[in-house]
Amino acid sequence: MSDTMERVFLATAHEEETHTLGHRLGQLMMAGCVLALRGDLGMGKSVLARGILRGLGVKDPYLTSPTFTILNYYEDGRLPASHFDFYRLAEPEELLALGVRDYLPGDGVAMVEWPEKAMEFLPADRLDIFLTDGCQGPESRTVTITASGPLSRGLMHDYRQRFPE
Ligand SMILES: Nc1ncnc2c1ncn2[C@@H]1O[C@H](COP(=O)(O)OP(=O)(O)OP(=O)(O)O)[C@@H](O)[C@H]1O
Ligand SMILES: [Mg+2]
Repeated sequence: MSDTMERVFLATAHEEETHTLGHRLGQLMMAGCVLALRGDLGMGKSVLARGILRGLGVKDPYLTSPTFTILNYYEDGRLPASHFDFYRLAEPEELLALGVRDYLPGDGVAMVEWPEKAMEFLPADRLDIFLTDGCQGPESRTVTITASGPLSRGLMHDYRQRFPE
């Protein structure tokens, strides 16, 4: 790990805790933040994204996965928020038609599920959030957050100050 990176390990015991983690992150987000939400199917990327949207003050985050829409955009929170899901992308170039470069980074917060499908569109300064199975039973998750630039490191610094544990 290079010295410009910073890594934090967290655990959640069930869905509500993952949502709460997202809510906390959402409260701290700054303009230009990009989050790569990684992990297998059903690990909780969308649960976390909904928590972040709620933490930003978005009233009605989508209730179902945006898998079929690629991008959901919200303007009623503290910052504009875009939520991408790259799962069904056949090729990264499809994103150009969406004007993806205006969002990654943009003037608000951008979250991307399945970023592996088009990593070249993600900025170097971002938070990579990995969800994997936890060791406290089927509903637990390990959440590994890696910050890889000044903006994202600043966010994790704020997180530790605000939510020391
Ligand atoms: N600790 C946990 N955190 C998050 N979700 C959990 C947890 N424990 C169980 N779950 C369940 O796991 C599922 C997570 O679904 P979610 O749609 O968020 O996954 P996803 O990672 O976005 O999957 P996909 O790759 O299909 O988009 C939900 O059904 C949720 O109830
Ligand atoms: Mg999802």
